[in-house]
Amino acid sequence: MIIKWKPEFSCYDSTIDEQHKKMIDMINEMNDLSLYDDHIDRYDSIVEVFGRLKDYTVYHFNHEEKLFEEHGYDSFNTKIQKLEHKGFVNKVTSINLYDLDENQNETIMSVLDFLSKWLEHHILDIDRKFGEFLREKYEK
Ligand SMILES: [Fe+2]
Repeated sequence: MIIKWKPEFSCYDSTIDEQHKKMIDMINEMNDLSLYDDHIDRYDSIVEVFGRLKDYTVYHFNHEEKLFEEHGYDSFNTKIQKLEHKGFVNKVTSINLYDLDENQNETIMSVLDFLSKWLEHHILDIDRKFGEFLREKYEK
């Protein structure tokens, strides 16, 4: 397991939390596939999970961005969120795992390191802010 859900990841919104958990699961699924040591090539499976993760992330970002609008999140933080989302999508679409076939293990490790660190940062520094905004708005 390269990234583990922890209570401080909660954004006080069950749908956002569920979606983050799914993304964490997919990163761990890629990690598990890369750790087998039985000489069976699982590269295609890793690429398949990576593709699913990319699609799901776009879906998740769209969902979040709809919520910002619905709940009247301020334009400054909405802008930061959208820039983060765009930057991440650009980064992951630029990664072509098949391009780097020669050094599979190192490539996968660095991609997994990037994905897990990015997601943790995104949840803790960016999405939680939105969660706190929701909590303040509705729990008073
Ligand atoms: Fe998010």
